[in-house]
Amino acid sequence: MAMSTVILAAGLGTRMKSATPKVLHMLLGRPVVRHVVDTAKAMRPEKIIVVVSPAGSGVQDALKDSSVSFAVQKTPKGTADALMAAVRELGNFNGTLLVLSGDAPLVGLSTLRRLLTAHKRRKEDISILSFIAEGNHSYGRVVRNSSRVTAIVENRDADSTQKKIREVNSGIYALEPSALALLKDIKINPRKKEFYLTDLISIASSRGLRIGSHIFGDETELTGINTRAELSLAGLYLRDRTIAGWLERGVSFIDAKSVFIDPRARIGMDTIIYPNVIIEGKSIIGPGCIIYPNSRITDSRLGNNVTIKDSSVIESSTVKEGAAIGPFAHLRPGSVIGKSAKIGNFVEIKKSSIGRNSKASHLSYIGDAEIGENVNIGAGTITCNYDGLNKFRTVIEDGSFIGSDTQLVAPVKVGKGAYVGSGTTVTRDVPPMALALSRTPQLNIEGWALRRSAEKEKKKTKK
Ligand code: UD1
Ligand code: CA
Repeated sequence: MAMSTVILAAGLGTRMKSATPKVLHMLLGRPVVRHVVDTAKAMRPEKIIVVVSPAGSGVQDALKDSSVSFAVQKTPKGTADALMAAVRELGNFNGTLLVLSGDAPLVGLSTLRRLLTAHKRRKEDISILSFIAEGNHSYGRVVRNSSRVTAIVENRDADSTQKKIREVNSGIYALEPSALALLKDIKINPRKKEFYLTDLISIASSRGLRIGSHIFGDETELTGINTRAELSLAGLYLRDRTIAGWLERGVSFIDAKSVFIDPRARIGMDTIIYPNVIIEGKSIIGPGCIIYPNSRITDSRLGNNVTIKDSSVIESSTVKEGAAIGPFAHLRPGSVIGKSAKIGNFVEIKKSSIGRNSKASHLSYIGDAEIGENVNIGAGTITCNYDGLNKFRTVIEDGSFIGSDTQLVAPVKVGKGAYVGSGTTVTRDVPPMALALSRTPQLNIEGWALRRSAEKEKKKTKK
């Protein structure tokens, strides 16, 4: 049966105390609402409609590559009013509507599938996804008369008995057109001056519709984000959940509580991750890698058995099998490090390819360069790729040897097997198998220092 999804995301989020809309706050690499959209997409609904406020252009921008539709809720008059805006956008759709909350980003795919399965199997008009809440909270209580669900009462409106109910509303529902038809009968809440979607339950109950409430998730999964404290907690839940998954699939963590991994990243078996490592975006880490402390890897791909030594930053780059990076190395976007290559201490690489087995072990800047296989880049080598106006390429062919403290003034090419002597400023191409030298010959002045100290002595005795 056809299913569409609505995501309510037009609320003001005043409890966040922020100039940024609540659902755009970042949660482990993605805006809160993006998590909801990505989960919704994985459900493969016919349509996804995100309800935004007229001021919510930021939300639209954040979702512009995600092929969702938008419905605008002119004023934030409550969750029922928001859903009405979406229903207008749906036209004559008459399947099941899965309603998600833009501020409940951690709900899992399997929980949503369970909800829809129960919804269909029990032929319910309304299925509520609920959970058991602990301690002090402001979730709506699920009110039952024996086992029949008769209402959801908001925290603000609950009496002392209702406040004791531990089953609460997650704000996620599966609704049939029979239920949607009753939206127009919801009256404004006199206290909050809003139309509460939760009032749909008592109306539907009094009309004899079938309502079910299903405790399929727990508080860590279904938590709503209204405050910075909840945002921070949700980040930790998601972090723990993601790492638990990798522990199960054979990845080791020395201190899992200090590591952050984007849920979209992938990690191979037997990889070992040291403390304070951050893996961002859609990074792919191969099997058997070791990532030492304090490194950040963003949108990058690491092959098998790669070693990342301490405090390295790797951005939008590829590191092939067996290569070693760091400590204190920086791979900037567009770098490709070949098999078994070595990029060492204080080396910065930008938009360059480094061939198999090549080494740049110390203190270098390699930008816009193409470096072949088995090349040795000496300490302090710098590609001068920028003349203040344009960027130029440096090519260093297979097997060449670049002496320490060399400057390569691009565009320039060092041919196969050539040598560049230490301290050379390479301004012209070096032919294959040649030696390039641009040093002024050394001059030794015999006895110079001796004469200088004699002069010094003379001055002292005069005083
Ligand atoms: C809501 C539920 C509550 C439930 C809780 C779960 C209502 C009345 N209450 O409360 O029973 O326990 O979620 O987290 O529904 N929104 C709009 N337009 C509006 C108002 C809200 O789009 O005019 C959106 C918000 O952006 C948010 C979602 O709807 O993503 C929920 O709104 P929020 O104000 O956070 O509701 P809660 O008070 O948390
Ligand atoms: Ca909320």
